[in-house]
Amino acid sequence: MNKVEVLTRRTERLDLRPVRDEDIDTMLAYHTDPRVYEWLLRTEIDPAAFRKARLGAVDDPRDYSVVAELDGRVIGDGMLEITDGMGQDHAPETQGCQALLGYILDPAYAGRGIATELATELLVMAFDDLGVRRVTAGCYVDNRASARILEKIGMRREEYAVKDSWHQTRGWIDGASYAILREEWQR
Ligand SMILES: CC(C)(COP(=O)(O)OP(=O)(O)OC[C@H]1O[C@@H](n2cnc3c(N)ncnc32)[C@H](O)[C@@H]1OP(=O)(O)O)[C@@H](O)C(=O)NCCC(=O)NCCS
Repeated sequence: MNKVEVLTRRTERLDLRPVRDEDIDTMLAYHTDPRVYEWLLRTEIDPAAFRKARLGAVDDPRDYSVVAELDGRVIGDGMLEITDGMGQDHAPETQGCQALLGYILDPAYAGRGIATELATELLVMAFDDLGVRRVTAGCYVDNRASARILEKIGMRREEYAVKDSWHQTRGWIDGASYAILREEWQR
């Protein structure tokens, strides 16, 4: 399967696919909503840079970003970024053996299990199609909805870090990191 085929997927309610130029304005509308960037690492977006980065993703061998459509409308996006594992001497085993998971949803569609459905499919992509051995994710501990999603999809909280994470309005607050190994993953 080529990359576009890997990124083009169907779940119970969602169509996932690579980002297209015509999606960018819709994505910018929810990415710049304070309810969304409250919990993101980027709170300010330069639209031109956003467009360039999103459209360039398909040519980046480590970037497996998708948009999620519900009934033909883009309502969110998901990310899998291939990362290296820990290990000695940059051994070949460590190269590209992990993926970092993320998701963002238009708040108009929140509370319906949609981000969980998206994240679940991203795990399928990571383990079945990309063949990584471990998937990781992180969130502010106060982002209860995100922490709950990671728990619901079977990820284990591996670190609870006290006041390690800077937040533009809350200051230094607690962060958590999660992971799941392929052998632990249950479809
Ligand atoms: C976080 C986000 C993805 C959630 O999307 P969603 O589609 O509403 O999430 P789901 O409905 O799939 O699941 C949310 C879960 O969190 C729970 N939840 C929501 N708000 C909560 C809160 N304040 N406290 C505790 N649990 C909460 C929901 O009840 C649900 O769990 P349940 O199924 O056991 O009832 C969405 O709000 C978003 O895009 N936020 C901004 C971006 C973001 O935070 N991305 C993740 C960065 S780490």
